Amino acid sequence: MKPSAILFAAAVFAAAASAVAAPRLRPIMRDWKAQAGQAERMLTGAVPYDEPALRRILTGMIGDARDVEAGISGSGAQALDAKNRFSRFEADAAATLQTAAAPGGASARFQRVAGDCRSCHDALRN
Ligand code: HEC
Repeated sequence: MKPSAILFAAAVFAAAASAVAAPRLRPIMRDWKAQAGQAERMLTGAVPYDEPALRRILTGMIGDARDVEAGISGSGAQALDAKNRFSRFEADAAATLQTAAAPGGASARFQRVAGDCRSCHDALRN
Protein backbone atom coordinates (compact mmCIF):
# COMPACT_ATOMS: atom_id res chain seq x y z
CA MET A 1 0.00 0.00 0.00
CA LYS A 2 1.28 3.45 -0.92
CA PRO A 3 1.87 5.82 2.01
CA SER A 4 -0.66 8.24 0.52
CA ALA A 5 -3.21 5.45 0.42
CA ILE A 6 -2.62 4.61 4.06
CA LEU A 7 -3.10 8.25 4.99
CA PHE A 8 -6.27 8.42 2.95
CA ALA A 9 -7.68 5.24 4.49
CA ALA A 10 -6.75 6.45 7.96
CA ALA A 11 -8.29 9.85 7.30
CA VAL A 12 -11.55 8.36 6.09
CA PHE A 13 -11.81 5.87 8.87
CA ALA A 14 -10.63 8.15 11.69
CA ALA A 15 -12.94 10.92 10.56
CA ALA A 16 -15.91 8.58 10.33
CA ALA A 17 -15.15 7.02 13.69
CA SER A 18 -14.58 10.32 15.48
CA ALA A 19 -17.84 12.00 14.53
CA VAL A 20 -20.43 11.35 17.23
CA ALA A 21 -23.19 10.01 15.02
CA ALA A 22 -20.99 8.59 12.30
CA PRO A 23 -21.28 4.88 11.83
CA ARG A 24 -18.14 2.82 11.66
CA LEU A 25 -16.84 2.13 8.21
CA ARG A 26 -15.79 -1.52 8.42
CA PRO A 27 -19.14 -3.03 9.44
CA ILE A 28 -20.79 -0.93 6.71
CA MET A 29 -18.30 -2.22 4.15
CA ARG A 30 -18.93 -5.81 5.20
CA ASP A 31 -22.67 -5.28 4.73
CA TRP A 32 -22.03 -3.68 1.35
CA LYS A 33 -19.97 -6.66 0.27
CA ALA A 34 -22.79 -9.10 1.09
CA GLN A 35 -25.41 -6.82 -0.45
CA ALA A 36 -23.43 -6.10 -3.62
CA GLY A 37 -23.02 -9.87 -4.04
CA GLN A 38 -26.77 -10.36 -3.67
CA ALA A 39 -27.46 -7.59 -6.21
CA GLU A 40 -24.94 -9.07 -8.68
CA ARG A 41 -26.56 -12.49 -8.39
CA MET A 42 -30.01 -11.14 -9.22
CA LEU A 43 -28.76 -8.87 -11.99
CA THR A 44 -26.84 -11.67 -13.69
CA GLY A 45 -29.79 -14.04 -13.40
CA ALA A 46 -28.05 -16.45 -11.02
CA VAL A 47 -31.05 -15.97 -8.70
CA PRO A 48 -34.51 -14.61 -9.67
CA TYR A 49 -34.78 -10.83 -10.01
CA ASP A 50 -36.32 -9.28 -6.88
CA GLU A 51 -37.05 -5.59 -7.43
CA PRO A 52 -38.08 -4.79 -3.80
CA ALA A 53 -34.90 -6.47 -2.51
CA LEU A 54 -32.73 -4.50 -4.95
CA ARG A 55 -34.50 -1.29 -3.89
CA ARG A 56 -33.82 -2.06 -0.23
CA ILE A 57 -30.15 -2.75 -0.93
CA LEU A 58 -29.64 0.46 -2.90
CA THR A 59 -31.63 2.63 -0.48
CA GLY A 60 -29.59 1.26 2.42
CA MET A 61 -26.30 1.90 0.60
CA ILE A 62 -27.32 5.47 -0.24
CA GLY A 63 -28.21 6.15 3.41
CA ASP A 64 -24.95 4.60 4.65
CA ALA A 65 -22.87 6.58 2.14
CA ARG A 66 -24.59 9.81 3.22
CA ASP A 67 -23.86 9.05 6.86
CA VAL A 68 -20.22 8.26 6.15
CA GLU A 69 -19.85 11.37 4.00
CA ALA A 70 -21.39 13.54 6.71
CA GLY A 71 -18.97 12.03 9.23
CA ILE A 72 -15.85 12.99 7.28
CA SER A 73 -14.57 16.17 8.80
CA GLY A 74 -11.77 18.39 7.58
CA SER A 75 -11.20 20.30 4.38
CA GLY A 76 -7.89 18.81 3.26
CA ALA A 77 -7.45 17.25 -0.17
CA GLN A 78 -7.90 13.73 1.17
CA ALA A 79 -11.08 14.54 3.07
CA LEU A 80 -12.51 16.22 -0.02
CA ASP A 81 -11.49 13.32 -2.23
CA ALA A 82 -13.17 10.87 0.14
CA LYS A 83 -16.36 12.96 0.26
CA ASN A 84 -16.40 13.19 -3.54
CA ARG A 85 -16.01 9.45 -3.88
CA PHE A 86 -18.87 8.67 -1.49
CA SER A 87 -20.97 11.31 -3.21
CA ARG A 88 -20.35 9.73 -6.66
CA PHE A 89 -21.20 6.34 -5.19
CA GLU A 90 -24.51 7.78 -3.86
CA ALA A 91 -25.35 9.32 -7.25
CA ASP A 92 -24.66 6.06 -9.10
CA ALA A 93 -26.68 4.04 -6.57
CA ALA A 94 -29.56 6.55 -6.91
CA ALA A 95 -29.41 6.25 -10.72
CA THR A 96 -29.57 2.46 -10.39
CA LEU A 97 -32.57 2.79 -8.06
CA GLN A 98 -34.39 4.80 -10.74
CA THR A 99 -33.96 1.97 -13.22
CA ALA A 100 -34.86 -0.82 -10.77
CA ALA A 101 -38.14 -1.63 -12.57
CA ALA A 102 -36.13 -3.09 -15.48
CA PRO A 103 -33.36 -5.56 -14.67
CA GLY A 104 -31.49 -4.76 -17.93
CA GLY A 105 -31.22 -1.06 -17.16
CA ALA A 106 -30.46 -1.67 -13.50
CA SER A 107 -27.70 -4.08 -14.43
CA ALA A 108 -25.94 -1.50 -16.63
CA ARG A 109 -26.20 1.14 -13.92
CA PHE A 110 -25.10 -1.18 -11.16
CA GLN A 111 -21.82 -1.74 -13.01
CA ARG A 112 -20.98 1.88 -12.22
CA VAL A 113 -21.73 1.33 -8.54
CA ALA A 114 -19.43 -1.72 -8.52
CA GLY A 115 -16.84 0.38 -10.37
CA ASP A 116 -17.04 2.98 -7.58
CA CYS A 117 -16.30 0.24 -5.00
CA ARG A 118 -13.25 -0.83 -6.98
CA SER A 119 -11.88 2.60 -7.78
CA CYS A 120 -12.11 3.74 -4.16
CA HIS A 121 -10.37 0.58 -2.98
CA ASP A 122 -7.72 0.89 -5.70
CA ALA A 123 -7.00 4.39 -4.46
CA LEU A 124 -6.54 3.05 -0.94
CA ARG A 125 -5.12 -0.41 -1.17
CA ASN A 126 -2.51 -0.91 -3.89
C1 HEC B 1 -15.46 6.11 -1.29
C2 HEC B 1 -14.67 4.98 -0.85
C3 HEC B 1 -15.26 3.60 -0.81
C4 HEC B 1 -16.28 3.07 -1.56
C5 HEC B 1 -17.15 3.72 -2.62
C6 HEC B 1 -16.41 1.69 -1.13
N1 HEC B 1 -15.49 1.42 -0.17
FE1 HEC B 1 -15.18 -0.42 0.70
N2 HEC B 1 -13.68 0.41 1.83
C7 HEC B 1 -13.30 1.72 1.84
C8 HEC B 1 -12.29 1.96 2.86
C9 HEC B 1 -11.65 3.29 3.21
C10 HEC B 1 -12.07 0.71 3.47
C11 HEC B 1 -11.09 0.40 4.59
C12 HEC B 1 -11.82 0.54 5.93
C13 HEC B 1 -10.90 0.21 7.10
O1 HEC B 1 -10.22 -0.81 7.04
O2 HEC B 1 -10.89 0.97 8.05
C14 HEC B 1 -12.96 -0.25 2.78
C15 HEC B 1 -13.04 -1.61 3.10
C16 HEC B 1 -13.89 -2.51 2.51
C17 HEC B 1 -13.97 -3.92 2.85
C18 HEC B 1 -13.13 -4.62 3.91
C19 HEC B 1 -13.83 -4.49 5.27
C20 HEC B 1 -13.06 -5.15 6.40
O3 HEC B 1 -13.67 -5.98 7.09
O4 HEC B 1 -11.90 -4.83 6.58
C21 HEC B 1 -14.94 -4.47 2.05
C22 HEC B 1 -15.39 -5.92 2.02
C23 HEC B 1 -15.48 -3.40 1.23
N3 HEC B 1 -14.82 -2.21 1.52
C24 HEC B 1 -16.51 -3.57 0.30
C25 HEC B 1 -17.05 -2.54 -0.48
C26 HEC B 1 -18.09 -2.70 -1.48
C27 HEC B 1 -18.74 -4.00 -1.86
C28 HEC B 1 -18.32 -1.47 -2.00
C29 HEC B 1 -19.33 -1.07 -3.06
C30 HEC B 1 -20.68 -1.56 -2.96
C31 HEC B 1 -17.41 -0.53 -1.36
N4 HEC B 1 -16.67 -1.23 -0.44
C32 HEC B 1 -17.33 0.81 -1.66
C33 HEC B 1 -13.76 2.70 1.00
C34 HEC B 1 -14.78 2.55 0.06
